[in-house]
Amino acid sequence: MDNDKSVGIFDSGVGGTTVLKEIIKLLPKENIIYFGDNKNSPYGEKKEEEIQVHCLEILKFLLKKKCKAIVIACNTATAAAFEVLSKNSPVPVIGVISGGIKAAIEVTKNKKIGILATPFTVSSMAYINELEKKNMDLEIIQSPCKDLCPMIEAGWGKFKNRKFILEEYLSFFKNGTDTLILACTHYPIIKKDIEELFIGNIVDTAKETAMELLDVLNKNALKNNSDDLGEIKFYINGELGNFKNIAEDFLEIKILEVKQIDI
Ligand code: DGL
Repeated sequence: MDNDKSVGIFDSGVGGTTVLKEIIKLLPKENIIYFGDNKNSPYGEKKEEEIQVHCLEILKFLLKKKCKAIVIACNTATAAAFEVLSKNSPVPVIGVISGGIKAAIEVTKNKKIGILATPFTVSSMAYINELEKKNMDLEIIQSPCKDLCPMIEAGWGKFKNRKFILEEYLSFFKNGTDTLILACTHYPIIKKDIEELFIGNIVDTAKETAMELLDVLNKNALKNNSDDLGEIKFYINGELGNFKNIAEDFLEIKILEVKQIDI
């Protein structure tokens, strides 16, 4: 039982709120510190070493805030820095890649799985490598999406060409792919538009990641079992921009404050 400490969740920006939403549903009593590294967003076109440096800084910040577990709510950061964070963290670290894979293999019928992700996640082969371990004779196609994350951060709705761009990225999956993994935590924010253009199962990593967190908290006797709902604190290190509006819309809650800090 650990009622004073928090769960630390981070992403390159607002995308991790899609994981946060499932965590709030499953673990409403947990205190949460959410950090969006929007000064350094997007991660998707950065080099591995650079992403690792940012993630280690964030780990330091979350540990200073007394976090008892860390959720890397970003596929790109999970692909680039899961191992280095796990090695450097005295508290459990959870990534998001295994969750999307679990969800996809549960629902695919024809074993044709599509991965919609950032260029870094695609070239890291993190999904392909994990899926191949399942020995299921899967056909996997990846689509690297350079523009989606920056457009979502900037406010998806304001881009007149958004559906055209999305259509291009989804055109990779015309081979009968029956299951699409939203392998970037920003993409559930635009799921309605993706659903209009992709016929099949659309899975993301959020629910499974929340379940993995529950499991880790239970196993390590870290779960908060107070009677009260937890407190959620939001931090970013860049401009406030659309962060608060996008997060409020997606989470369907009112956010009192988003603190801007310098890390
Ligand atoms: N939400 C991040 C992910 O899941 C976006 C990465 C980026 O900043 O490009 O990959």
